[in-house]
Amino acid sequence: MRSRDVVSGVGDLPEHEAIRLLVAATGRTRSEVLVGFDVSSEEQDTFGSYVERRRRDEPLQYIEGTVPFGSVELRVDNRVLIPRPETEYLFEQVTTLVDDPAVIVDLCTGSGNLALALAAAHPNCEVYAVDLSPDAAAVARGNAEANKLDIHVLVGDLFDPLPESVKGRVDLAVSNPPYLAAGELADLPPDVLAEPEMALVAGPRGDEVVARIAREAQGWLAPGGLVACEISEFHGDRVAELFERYDAEIRQDLVGRDRYVVARLRTR
Ligand SMILES: C[S@@+](CC[C@H](N)C(=O)[O-])C[C@H]1O[C@@H](n2cnc3c(N)ncnc32)[C@H](O)[C@@H]1O
Repeated sequence: MRSRDVVSGVGDLPEHEAIRLLVAATGRTRSEVLVGFDVSSEEQDTFGSYVERRRRDEPLQYIEGTVPFGSVELRVDNRVLIPRPETEYLFEQVTTLVDDPAVIVDLCTGSGNLALALAAAHPNCEVYAVDLSPDAAAVARGNAEANKLDIHVLVGDLFDPLPESVKGRVDLAVSNPPYLAAGELADLPPDVLAEPEMALVAGPRGDEVVARIAREAQGWLAPGGLVACEISEFHGDRVAELFERYDAEIRQDLVGRDRYVVARLRTR
Protein backbone atom coordinates (compact mmCIF):
# COMPACT_ATOMS: atom_id res chain seq x y z
CA MET A 1 0.00 0.00 0.00
CA ARG A 2 1.31 3.49 -0.86
CA SER A 3 2.11 5.84 1.99
CA ARG A 4 -0.38 8.50 0.88
CA ASP A 5 -3.17 5.90 0.91
CA VAL A 6 -2.12 4.71 4.39
CA VAL A 7 -2.37 8.30 5.66
CA SER A 8 -5.69 9.07 4.01
CA GLY A 9 -7.12 5.76 5.28
CA VAL A 10 -7.18 7.24 8.80
CA GLY A 11 -10.25 9.40 8.62
CA ASP A 12 -10.67 10.31 12.27
CA LEU A 13 -7.23 11.82 13.04
CA PRO A 14 -5.92 15.09 11.58
CA GLU A 15 -3.78 14.40 8.50
CA HIS A 16 -0.65 15.95 10.05
CA GLU A 17 -0.91 13.52 12.98
CA ALA A 18 -1.31 10.52 10.68
CA ILE A 19 1.76 11.66 8.73
CA ARG A 20 3.81 11.95 11.94
CA LEU A 21 2.69 8.51 13.07
CA LEU A 22 3.66 7.01 9.71
CA VAL A 23 7.05 8.71 9.95
CA ALA A 24 7.49 7.15 13.41
CA ALA A 25 6.29 3.72 12.23
CA THR A 26 8.55 3.55 9.16
CA GLY A 27 11.60 5.66 10.03
CA ARG A 28 11.06 7.51 6.72
CA THR A 29 11.03 11.30 6.45
CA ARG A 30 7.89 13.43 6.14
CA SER A 31 8.87 14.25 2.55
CA GLU A 32 9.16 10.56 1.68
CA VAL A 33 5.69 9.95 3.13
CA LEU A 34 4.28 12.81 1.03
CA VAL A 35 6.09 11.83 -2.18
CA GLY A 36 5.00 8.22 -1.68
CA PHE A 37 6.59 4.81 -1.03
CA ASP A 38 5.36 1.27 -0.50
CA VAL A 39 4.55 0.63 3.15
CA SER A 40 5.27 -2.98 4.13
CA SER A 41 2.60 -4.99 5.96
CA GLU A 42 4.80 -4.99 9.08
CA GLU A 43 5.03 -1.18 8.95
CA GLN A 44 1.27 -0.98 8.42
CA ASP A 45 0.74 -3.06 11.58
CA THR A 46 3.04 -0.79 13.58
CA PHE A 47 1.27 2.27 12.19
CA GLY A 48 -2.11 0.73 13.08
CA SER A 49 -1.01 0.22 16.70
CA TYR A 50 0.21 3.84 16.86
CA VAL A 51 -3.11 5.09 15.48
CA GLU A 52 -4.96 3.08 18.15
CA ARG A 53 -2.79 4.62 20.89
CA ARG A 54 -3.46 8.10 19.53
CA ARG A 55 -7.20 7.38 19.43
CA ARG A 56 -6.94 6.65 23.16
CA ASP A 57 -5.54 10.21 23.59
CA GLU A 58 -1.92 9.21 24.16
CA PRO A 59 0.19 12.27 23.27
CA LEU A 60 1.83 12.08 19.85
CA GLN A 61 5.28 12.64 21.34
CA TYR A 62 4.99 9.61 23.66
CA ILE A 63 4.14 7.49 20.62
CA GLU A 64 6.95 8.99 18.54
CA GLY A 65 9.27 8.53 21.54
CA THR A 66 11.55 11.54 21.05
CA VAL A 67 11.41 15.33 21.11
CA PRO A 68 14.11 17.77 19.95
CA PHE A 69 15.06 20.50 22.43
CA GLY A 70 17.85 22.97 21.77
CA SER A 71 20.68 20.87 20.36
CA VAL A 72 19.61 17.68 22.14
CA GLU A 73 17.18 14.89 21.26
CA LEU A 74 15.17 13.62 24.23
CA ARG A 75 13.41 10.33 24.78
CA VAL A 76 10.05 10.88 26.40
CA ASP A 77 7.37 8.61 27.80
CA ASN A 78 4.57 8.83 30.35
CA ARG A 79 7.05 9.26 33.23
CA VAL A 80 7.82 12.83 32.15
CA LEU A 81 6.24 16.01 30.85
CA ILE A 82 6.69 16.51 27.11
CA PRO A 83 9.10 19.47 26.70
CA ARG A 84 7.24 22.42 25.22
CA PRO A 85 8.35 25.14 22.75
CA GLU A 86 7.73 27.74 25.51
CA THR A 87 10.37 26.04 27.62
CA GLU A 88 12.78 25.97 24.70
CA TYR A 89 12.27 29.73 24.49
CA LEU A 90 13.26 29.97 28.17
CA PHE A 91 16.43 28.02 27.34
CA GLU A 92 17.20 30.37 24.44
CA GLN A 93 16.81 33.40 26.68
CA VAL A 94 18.95 32.15 29.57
CA THR A 95 21.89 31.10 27.42
CA THR A 96 22.30 34.76 26.46
CA LEU A 97 22.06 35.93 30.09
CA VAL A 98 24.83 33.88 31.69
CA ASP A 99 28.42 34.36 30.78
CA ASP A 100 30.65 31.32 31.26
CA PRO A 101 28.70 29.86 34.22
CA ALA A 102 30.52 27.51 36.64
CA VAL A 103 27.44 25.84 38.16
CA ILE A 104 23.93 25.46 36.73
CA VAL A 105 21.02 23.81 38.53
CA ASP A 106 17.84 22.68 36.75
CA LEU A 107 15.10 22.18 39.33
CA CYS A 108 12.13 19.99 38.31
CA THR A 109 14.12 18.57 35.41
CA GLY A 110 11.65 15.99 34.03
CA SER A 111 13.22 14.59 30.85
CA GLY A 112 16.34 16.66 31.59
CA ASN A 113 15.59 19.05 28.74
CA LEU A 114 16.83 22.31 30.26
CA ALA A 115 19.79 20.73 32.06
CA LEU A 116 20.97 18.89 28.94
CA ALA A 117 20.48 21.75 26.49
CA LEU A 118 22.38 24.01 28.90
CA ALA A 119 25.12 21.42 29.41
CA ALA A 120 25.55 21.22 25.64
CA ALA A 121 25.69 25.02 25.38
CA HIS A 122 28.15 25.37 28.32
CA PRO A 123 30.46 22.34 28.11
CA ASN A 124 32.76 23.45 30.95
CA CYS A 125 29.95 23.96 33.43
CA GLU A 126 28.97 21.65 36.31
CA VAL A 127 25.26 20.91 35.73
CA TYR A 128 22.86 19.48 38.31
CA ALA A 129 19.38 18.25 37.40
CA VAL A 130 16.90 17.55 40.22
CA ASP A 131 13.49 15.89 40.20
CA LEU A 132 11.28 14.62 43.00
CA SER A 133 10.16 11.73 40.82
CA PRO A 134 12.65 8.83 40.63
CA ASP A 135 10.95 7.81 37.36
CA ALA A 136 11.58 11.23 35.81
CA ALA A 137 15.19 11.16 37.05
CA ALA A 138 15.66 7.78 35.34
CA VAL A 139 14.46 9.31 32.04
CA ALA A 140 16.79 12.30 32.50
CA ARG A 141 19.75 9.96 33.19
CA GLY A 142 18.96 7.96 30.06
CA ASN A 143 18.81 11.17 28.04
CA ALA A 144 22.14 12.36 29.46
CA GLU A 145 23.72 9.07 28.40
CA ALA A 146 22.08 9.08 24.95
CA ASN A 147 23.32 12.63 24.32
CA LYS A 148 26.77 11.87 25.81
CA LEU A 149 26.46 14.75 28.28
CA ASP A 150 27.92 14.52 31.74
CA ILE A 151 25.45 15.98 34.24
CA HIS A 152 24.50 15.06 37.82
CA VAL A 153 20.90 13.83 38.01
CA LEU A 154 19.61 13.83 41.59
CA VAL A 155 16.31 12.71 43.11
CA GLY A 156 14.77 14.99 45.71
CA ASP A 157 12.84 18.09 46.65
CA LEU A 158 14.13 21.24 44.87
CA PHE A 159 17.54 22.21 46.33
CA ASP A 160 17.58 19.46 49.02
CA PRO A 161 19.67 16.84 47.17
CA LEU A 162 22.38 19.28 46.02
CA PRO A 163 25.82 18.82 47.57
CA GLU A 164 26.91 21.41 50.13
CA SER A 165 29.90 22.12 47.86
CA VAL A 166 27.71 24.11 45.43
CA LYS A 167 26.20 26.32 48.13
CA GLY A 168 26.83 29.96 47.15
CA ARG A 169 28.26 28.90 43.75
CA VAL A 170 25.15 28.51 41.58
CA ASP A 171 25.33 30.97 38.68
CA LEU A 172 22.01 29.91 37.21
CA ALA A 173 19.03 28.14 38.78
CA VAL A 174 16.61 27.37 35.98
CA SER A 175 13.24 25.69 36.27
CA ASN A 176 10.04 24.80 34.56
CA PRO A 177 8.23 23.85 37.77
CA PRO A 178 4.66 22.62 38.11
CA TYR A 179 2.50 25.76 38.16
CA LEU A 180 -1.12 24.73 37.78
CA ALA A 181 -3.60 25.06 40.62
CA ALA A 182 -5.26 21.75 41.52
CA GLY A 183 -8.62 23.08 40.29
CA GLU A 184 -7.24 23.79 36.80
CA LEU A 185 -6.70 20.07 36.06
CA ALA A 186 -10.36 19.57 35.12
CA ASP A 187 -10.01 22.02 32.20
CA LEU A 188 -7.09 20.21 30.55
CA PRO A 189 -7.45 18.21 27.34
CA PRO A 190 -7.15 14.40 27.74
CA ASP A 191 -3.70 14.14 26.15
CA VAL A 192 -2.27 16.65 28.65
CA LEU A 193 -3.91 14.65 31.45
CA ALA A 194 -1.85 11.66 30.23
CA GLU A 195 1.24 13.48 31.54
CA PRO A 196 2.25 12.97 35.21
CA GLU A 197 0.07 14.98 37.60
CA MET A 198 3.05 15.93 39.74
CA ALA A 199 4.58 17.59 36.69
CA LEU A 200 1.55 19.81 36.30
CA VAL A 201 0.04 20.68 39.67
CA ALA A 202 1.91 22.73 42.28
CA GLY A 203 -0.83 22.91 44.92
CA PRO A 204 -4.09 24.69 45.66
CA ARG A 205 -2.84 28.06 44.28
CA GLY A 206 -0.41 26.99 41.57
CA ASP A 207 2.49 29.24 42.58
CA GLU A 208 3.69 27.12 45.52
CA VAL A 209 6.78 25.65 43.84
CA VAL A 210 7.99 28.91 42.25
CA ALA A 211 7.48 30.61 45.65
CA ARG A 212 9.79 28.05 47.26
CA ILE A 213 12.35 28.48 44.48
CA ALA A 214 12.35 32.27 45.06
CA ARG A 215 12.92 31.73 48.79
CA GLU A 216 15.35 28.82 48.76
CA ALA A 217 17.53 29.92 45.83
CA GLN A 218 18.92 32.76 47.93
CA GLY A 219 20.92 30.25 49.98
CA TRP A 220 22.46 28.61 46.89
CA LEU A 221 23.12 31.34 44.34
CA ALA A 222 26.54 32.84 43.71
CA PRO A 223 26.70 36.61 44.22
CA GLY A 224 24.67 38.11 41.37
CA GLY A 225 23.39 34.63 40.40
CA LEU A 226 20.31 34.27 38.26
CA VAL A 227 16.99 32.45 38.70
CA ALA A 228 14.97 31.87 35.53
CA CYS A 229 11.63 30.07 35.66
CA GLU A 230 8.70 29.40 33.46
CA ILE A 231 5.47 30.54 35.15
CA SER A 232 1.73 30.46 34.58
CA GLU A 233 0.45 33.21 32.32
CA PHE A 234 -1.89 34.18 35.20
CA HIS A 235 0.84 34.57 37.85
CA GLY A 236 2.99 37.42 36.53
CA ASP A 237 2.07 39.96 39.23
CA ARG A 238 2.18 37.45 42.08
CA VAL A 239 5.53 36.06 40.98
CA ALA A 240 7.04 39.55 40.73
CA GLU A 241 6.18 39.96 44.44
CA LEU A 242 7.72 36.59 45.31
CA PHE A 243 11.03 37.80 43.88
CA GLU A 244 11.08 41.11 45.75
CA ARG A 245 14.59 40.45 47.04
CA TYR A 246 15.90 40.16 43.49
CA ASP A 247 16.13 42.47 40.52
CA ALA A 248 13.31 40.64 38.81
CA GLU A 249 11.69 40.94 35.45
CA ILE A 250 8.54 39.20 34.24
CA ARG A 251 9.04 38.31 30.60
CA GLN A 252 6.48 37.49 27.93
CA ASP A 253 6.26 34.69 25.42
CA LEU A 254 5.99 35.27 21.68
CA VAL A 255 2.28 36.05 21.95
CA GLY A 256 2.71 38.53 24.80
CA ARG A 257 1.62 36.44 27.81
CA ASP A 258 3.54 36.71 31.10
CA ARG A 259 5.38 33.36 31.05
CA TYR A 260 8.80 33.77 32.66
CA VAL A 261 10.55 35.30 35.60
CA VAL A 262 14.21 36.22 35.26
CA ALA A 263 15.62 37.40 38.57
CA ARG A 264 19.13 38.33 39.58
CA LEU A 265 19.98 38.09 43.26
CA ARG A 266 20.80 41.54 44.57
CA THR A 267 24.29 41.96 45.92
CA ARG A 268 24.24 44.33 48.89
C1 LIG B 1 6.40 21.01 34.54
S1 LIG B 1 7.40 19.56 34.72
C2 LIG B 1 8.85 20.14 33.88
C3 LIG B 1 9.72 19.06 33.34
C4 LIG B 1 10.83 19.59 32.41
N1 LIG B 1 11.73 20.47 33.09
C5 LIG B 1 10.25 20.28 31.18
O1 LIG B 1 10.44 21.48 31.02
O2 LIG B 1 9.63 19.60 30.35
C6 LIG B 1 7.81 19.63 36.41
C7 LIG B 1 8.69 18.51 36.98
O3 LIG B 1 8.91 18.85 38.35
C8 LIG B 1 8.95 17.69 39.16
N2 LIG B 1 8.67 18.14 40.52
C9 LIG B 1 7.47 18.46 41.08
N3 LIG B 1 7.65 18.91 42.33
C10 LIG B 1 9.00 18.90 42.58
C11 LIG B 1 9.82 19.25 43.68
N4 LIG B 1 9.29 19.72 44.81
N5 LIG B 1 11.16 19.10 43.58
C12 LIG B 1 11.72 18.62 42.43
N6 LIG B 1 10.98 18.26 41.35
C13 LIG B 1 9.64 18.40 41.42
C14 LIG B 1 7.93 16.78 38.50
O4 LIG B 1 8.17 15.44 38.80
C15 LIG B 1 8.13 17.11 37.00
O5 LIG B 1 9.07 16.23 36.42
